[in-house]
Amino acid sequence: MNPEDIKRYIRLFHEREIPKVIEREVKPSFAEGRTTAIVGPRRSGKTYLLYSLIGEDREKYVYLNFENPLLFGITGRDFPKILDAYYDLYPENVGEDIAFLLDEIQNVPGWEIGVRYLTDEGFKVAVTGSSSRLLSKEIATQLRGRSLTYTLLPLSFREFLRFKGTWIERRDLYGREIHRIKKLLDEYLRFGGFPEVVLLKDKIRILEEYLSVMITKDIIERHSIRNVALIESVIRLLLSSYAKYTSYSSIHGFLKSEFGTSKTTVLEYLKALGDSFFVFFLPRYARSEKESQRAPKKVYLVDTGFSLFSRKDVAKDMENAVFLELMRLKHYFNPLLDVYYYGGSGEKEVDFVLVESGRVVELIQVTQDLSESKDREVSALVEAGRRLGCKNLTVVTLDEEGDVEADWGKVKVVPLWKFLLEITPSAPLSALPSPEPF
Ligand SMILES: Nc1ncnc2c1ncn2[C@@H]1O[C@H](COP(=O)(O)OP(=O)(O)O)[C@@H](O)[C@H]1O
Ligand SMILES: [Mg+2]
Repeated sequence: MNPEDIKRYIRLFHEREIPKVIEREVKPSFAEGRTTAIVGPRRSGKTYLLYSLIGEDREKYVYLNFENPLLFGITGRDFPKILDAYYDLYPENVGEDIAFLLDEIQNVPGWEIGVRYLTDEGFKVAVTGSSSRLLSKEIATQLRGRSLTYTLLPLSFREFLRFKGTWIERRDLYGREIHRIKKLLDEYLRFGGFPEVVLLKDKIRILEEYLSVMITKDIIERHSIRNVALIESVIRLLLSSYAKYTSYSSIHGFLKSEFGTSKTTVLEYLKALGDSFFVFFLPRYARSEKESQRAPKKVYLVDTGFSLFSRKDVAKDMENAVFLELMRLKHYFNPLLDVYYYGGSGEKEVDFVLVESGRVVELIQVTQDLSESKDREVSALVEAGRRLGCKNLTVVTLDEEGDVEADWGKVKVVPLWKFLLEITPSAPLSALPSPEPF
């Protein structure tokens, strides 16, 4: 580590203008004696959220992006030297309240040691990471439970509208605005919610670049994967299986003749893919954890824009968008929520089972067009509802609305745009602040 490089880096940041940050639904803050951690996929807006923590007195905020080559080679044990370099630059700030913003911290070997040092010294510390290992219990233990973690996903549909400069008053939901919202929903399903993709024109090119960088940096390099052809095949398989069932043995079965690969390797690669937030694996609802683990999983992509590189399908994009919204509900608003799918082997399927503290609180079925499949979709929901003792039953459709009376309570039918706008219980639309003109 070269202290002059660090000084140069710190000063450069203080001379630079901070870009305008559009408000997000995740609102991290510093918590005394704890490390604030923002974790999520590459390009979801973590760095911008870090910027939003910067207050008036810029020089008291030390921003270090560990993806910058100037900072390569730094380890957690070098952090006292970083502090010295900072004090050399700003001796007047010795003893002041300083905040450290440490971006993409997973690139620093032994980062926990450094972070613990800074927190113990009484500094404010916020870190970001694009590896879900930063979420794991292991890390919580290393920071002695003294962390506060926020998970950030690509934009929700509400945020998407804000980024588009469209603001929707609650009353508008029932007015002529609906046509505009539906058109914007088409775009949201097609290109997804990565902030830059939403803001800029060249959407497909940006998405292509995101996917390729995610694969090379967050998957292949980070996990030292040697069989690049194999991981690329696994990725292609997962892309083509979005909103479908998969299991590591079926993927293994598919690839073993071509690659002669072992189940262990496939499992390892799937873990790497999940760790990078490229995909999520939704487990089946079952009586025991073990049973749930053994059952096939459903695959969802971190962004519906990525399905452009597979066989894109509106019905699957809708299901994927609902899944991501449920993940936001869990990570942003209700940590007690767990999400599963129901049925599969012989039993009728329900897309999502929402469980809170062990109790089934809602069943959600997603279908593009209810008119053709009403009986099937409704009867699957009602049957599952009866078995699981849950009367809160919802069908999300592209365009239909109303209630369906069934012998086990009422089934709500909600169009997707409304579901995506209204789902957040703690943030009713009317209470959200207006967006800044952009
Ligand atoms: N809150 C925001 N307001 C405005 N633009 C944003 C915001 N969040 C992300 N962006 C845009 O998306 C890009 C990627 O965001 P960034 O914070 O760099 O993602 P990450 O750090 O997660 O990789 C930014 O360069 C910016 O163009
Ligand atoms: Mg970043």
